[in-house]
Amino acid sequence: MISFKNKWLLAFAAAGLSFGAVSASEKNKEEKSKGYLEAQKGALFSKENISQRTKPVGKIYVEGDDVPAAAAPPAVASTGPRSGADVYASNCSACHAAGVGGAPKYGTAVWNDLAAKGIDNLLQSVLNGKGIMPAKGGCSNCSDDELQQAVEHMVASAK
Ligand code: HEC
Repeated sequence: MISFKNKWLLAFAAAGLSFGAVSASEKNKEEKSKGYLEAQKGALFSKENISQRTKPVGKIYVEGDDVPAAAAPPAVASTGPRSGADVYASNCSACHAAGVGGAPKYGTAVWNDLAAKGIDNLLQSVLNGKGIMPAKGGCSNCSDDELQQAVEHMVASAK
């Protein structure tokens, strides 16, 4: 028969054993992760890895070197100056197609009278703005030339 006292001893012994077991497995884990870190370090500082990470970003060629052909510059479509019709369609037609706010209507006889003022005078009105027409007819990035083309386009619409 195990005495009461012995039971306690057994219990302690069991607790001690399991504690020992736990700490052993913790230690094992630690060892494992250490090994993992070492492996990582090894990979990180491997010759290959280092030379990959520290390779030069460019090359300098000196006279006499075989220089590889330069890549063709990206093709940029030149938009060039916009035509009068283009400028009219994207900037002026908003008002002049329907005659908004008293704007001389595109494709009507009113342009015959306006043409009599001379293109230069008409252009001045456009550049400065007139009535509800904003300066440059609202096309702030239009060149004077483009605006003149637009005016001529509108004058040419006279019936
Ligand atoms: C917000 C509306 C509006 C836009 C946009 C607009 N116009 Fe006008 N435009 C008018 C109005 C309104 C008048 C008449 C102004 C007046 O006589 O009081 C006018 C008048 C004109 C005239 C006659 C000027 C004169 O001396 O009698 C020309 C030319 C003209 N516009 C060209 C253009 C061109 C070119 C554009 C585009 C680049 C343009 N407009 C954009 C409203 C506009």
